[in-house]
Amino acid sequence: MSQKILKFPEGFFWGSAASAYQVEGGIYNNDWADFCRAGKINDGSMCQLGPDHYHLYEKDFDIAENLNQNAHRFSIEWSRIEPREGHFDKKEIEHYRKVLRALKKRGLEPFVTIYHWPVPKWFAKKGHWHGNRDAVKDFTRYGEYVARELCNEVKYWVTINEPAIYTLNSFFTGVWPPEKKSIFTAKKVYDKLIKSHKILYELIHGYYPSGKVEVGVAKNNTYFEAYQNKWMNKAVKKWADHFWNQYFLEEIRRYQDFIGLNHYFHNRIKFNWLRPSKSFNQNENKETTDMGWEIYPPAIYHCLKDLKKYNLPVYIFENGLADAEDKKRADYIRNYLRYVHRAIQEGVDVRGYFYWSLLDNFEWKEGYSKRFGLVDINYRTLERHIRPSAKVYAKICRQNQLVL
Ligand code: GCO
Repeated sequence: MSQKILKFPEGFFWGSAASAYQVEGGIYNNDWADFCRAGKINDGSMCQLGPDHYHLYEKDFDIAENLNQNAHRFSIEWSRIEPREGHFDKKEIEHYRKVLRALKKRGLEPFVTIYHWPVPKWFAKKGHWHGNRDAVKDFTRYGEYVARELCNEVKYWVTINEPAIYTLNSFFTGVWPPEKKSIFTAKKVYDKLIKSHKILYELIHGYYPSGKVEVGVAKNNTYFEAYQNKWMNKAVKKWADHFWNQYFLEEIRRYQDFIGLNHYFHNRIKFNWLRPSKSFNQNENKETTDMGWEIYPPAIYHCLKDLKKYNLPVYIFENGLADAEDKKRADYIRNYLRYVHRAIQEGVDVRGYFYWSLLDNFEWKEGYSKRFGLVDINYRTLERHIRPSAKVYAKICRQNQLVL
């Protein structure tokens, strides 16, 4: 049988992604810590040490380097940097400076997220994003501080992670803190996030007179598919595409140097005339992850093609699955990458792929029981075990190609 080789562009970034609250452990001063303490996590996880990446990052980056990765995406924890309103903790900035240097020493290009959802307690007390008139000012002051302190170490900034999922779960369905359930509140917060991004975009660029910086967001885009192309399904698809996938990106159109794509979902629409809310997620679900999410690799191709119109470089900042037994992960990565490659062939300027995630971690409402990692964590002993699929991915990273 002849082999087919899919080459990726030269200089392609191969990495994995993570966020502070999900991997660091020992964070007690934010709204999610309170949420955990109130017993609201499905598997009963408390605010624990988790993988203790805060102390073990050197070890973890050794693993990433050994897995042939050349980039890493992580986030800064706001409640560490600004534990009290207006009071910035130099020690914590120094911590992240060390993290950045540890990455560079191993040839891993850092991609730094400023905001990956939790807020410090003082900010929550002030009314969180929705009830605090100064929310944008407070947040951008923190963002500006981080960018100013770390501008010599960072070239790629992600201001905000997945504004749509965050706003939906925290302010509309209310399943995440601060548990608000109002479409008006959600819209208000969404607009504040848009405004915050634009302000930070300008501020960050101000610290790089040479222009050698790239700033954007990480946006979760879903492939909405109109079942059998029926006109009503198509109309709903168009509406969903606009509000879920495009609205934020269009609003910040002139304020982004790249598009960051987080991709997990396919959502087939079969319009239900009697119960319109049941029109979504009419997927076949032939194969699913431990989260119950459908595995449908062509979806990433459609999402990438949709982003072509922005005419910007694209980084896939997240794509991955929970798979405790590691039975599906290797195929998942290979199959999604096949479709990424197809999009590149068709002119989408994809420059990097970050698997979610390097380590098993805290999967928000689901707690620590869902296993997304290339590396398995024993939460009792903190031992790290590299899963077999990680080696499959490592080979792709090393060769900069996928062999079919
Ligand atoms: C998100 C976040 C991550 C998640 C990951 C898996 O997409 O929800 O960016 O923090 O853990 O996506 O759900």
